Amino acid sequence: MLSLLPHLLTLATAVAGEIFHNVTVFEPPSEWVSHNTSYARTVLLEHGRRHLEDPVLLSTWSFWPPEGPYLPIYRSINGGRSWSDYSRVYFTHRNYTGGNIWQPFLYELPQRVGEYPQGTILASGNAIPEDASSTNIELYASLDRGFSWEFVSVVATGGPPNTTNGATPVWEPFISMYKDILTVYYSDQRDPLHGQKLAHQSTQDLIHWGPIINDAADANYTLRPGMTTIAQLGNGKYILSYELANSQETDYAVHYRIADSPLEFDRARPHLLRSQDGTIPSACPYTVWTPIGGPHGTIVLSDGTHTEVFINRENGDPRAWLKVPTDHGVAYSRSLTVLPDPNIILFFNGGRYNESETAVTAGEWIVPRHI
Ligand SMILES: *[C@@H]1O[C@H](CO)[C@@H](O)[C@H](O)[C@H]1NC(C)=O
Ligand SMILES: *[C@@H]1O[C@H](CO)[C@@H](O)[C@H](O)[C@H]1NC(C)=O
Ligand SMILES: *[C@@H]1O[C@H](CO)[C@@H](O)[C@H](O)[C@H]1NC(C)=O
Ligand SMILES: *[C@@H]1O[C@H](CO)[C@@H](O)[C@H](O)[C@H]1NC(C)=O
Ligand SMILES: *[C@@H]1O[C@H](CO)[C@@H](O)[C@H](O)[C@H]1NC(C)=O
Ligand SMILES: *[C@@H]1O[C@H](CO)[C@@H](O)[C@H](O)[C@H]1NC(C)=O
Repeated sequence: MLSLLPHLLTLATAVAGEIFHNVTVFEPPSEWVSHNTSYARTVLLEHGRRHLEDPVLLSTWSFWPPEGPYLPIYRSINGGRSWSDYSRVYFTHRNYTGGNIWQPFLYELPQRVGEYPQGTILASGNAIPEDASSTNIELYASLDRGFSWEFVSVVATGGPPNTTNGATPVWEPFISMYKDILTVYYSDQRDPLHGQKLAHQSTQDLIHWGPIINDAADANYTLRPGMTTIAQLGNGKYILSYELANSQETDYAVHYRIADSPLEFDRARPHLLRSQDGTIPSACPYTVWTPIGGPHGTIVLSDGTHTEVFINRENGDPRAWLKVPTDHGVAYSRSLTVLPDPNIILFFNGGRYNESETAVTAGEWIVPRHI
């Protein structure tokens, strides 16, 4: 590890002068009725990537295109510095004409799953039909690096999109693999014991989905854990971060759990995230880990309230969170991607939740070596 440091320092110095901020990925054209975007996501394509090649990324977000609904796929072949319109994921399984697709997620298969080879790109999202009668987490796949898409399976369906406890929707898919199991994590209001809980379902072929397993289900019915993201730490453990709506400390207070297996968060102890300066981040956390920044690397967590990020260099020790500045604007579910140079994190911003004029922007951030 130590012998790598001079090399990494050189890299960090090399890029420091030329990192980019706030490049516009997409703005709804003026003639569109709706000018808002939200919940932007990227995936770094790792399969077949050659060392020192500019990273290729795909991105998506939710919006209201006049000819929609579909998920836009934009592609960057220079590490996120510029983007172009590449393809569209139409949710063809049901008739969603007049409806919408919310909360998208993209994932590249690191290994074969069923009939789908390594390097297959998956797209998920929460499709809402025109009459808003249901929520539908569906899975689509691209066998040609994001250029064309096909329906794979339905992961979970729920009642109308309604965030009041007692309603029965599902929300916010997040995809990850562990060993040879692919898992879709989501928020679930269908369990009468919990206003909302976090749960997952796993598959070994992308078609057949296993039982609903809880990840965070509070004994207090009122509390609403939501918006799963998961990252693996340098010590091999996994961190689940989530918001807790109706929480006492501050609404949507960010919480997290750490477990040996990403399939067993339900038994892990929940921690409130409070940084050393007393700040409790709020809403839609997105968490990644990078090996940069000390023997345990750095957990980087973005929330939906602060321009800053919250970092932890002690494997998630609750006493070790620091709030550190970034040059990036706040967004609803601002997403983070660790680039092949792990000194750099790509921030992807789809705009604030409640604003009617928003754009999708991307920018880099250098992981601080010393605080
Ligand atoms: C799909 O739904 C739209 C809007 O509800 C409707 O106008 C259209 O006829 C439907 N198309 C089919 C093929 O059922
Ligand atoms: C949302 O769900 C709550 C709880 O079931 C229900 O009382 C309310 O009528 C629903 N809202 C709408 C707009 O349907
Ligand atoms: C459950 O959570 C709500 C909202 O934070 C709180 O008002 C209530 O006191 C909690 N109930 C119990 C039994 O802790
Ligand atoms: C990027 O945009 C945000 C507002 O969305 C602004 O606060 C920030 O200063 C900008 N960063 C730079 C480096 O210009
Ligand atoms: C959106 O929400 C943020 C955070 O709650 C608030 O500061 C801001 O004023 C809101 N903006 C609008 C246009 O309502
Ligand atoms: C975004 O646009 C859609 C469609 O026009 C609209 O229903 C929604 O209220 C808009 N959201 C905001 C925050 O303006």
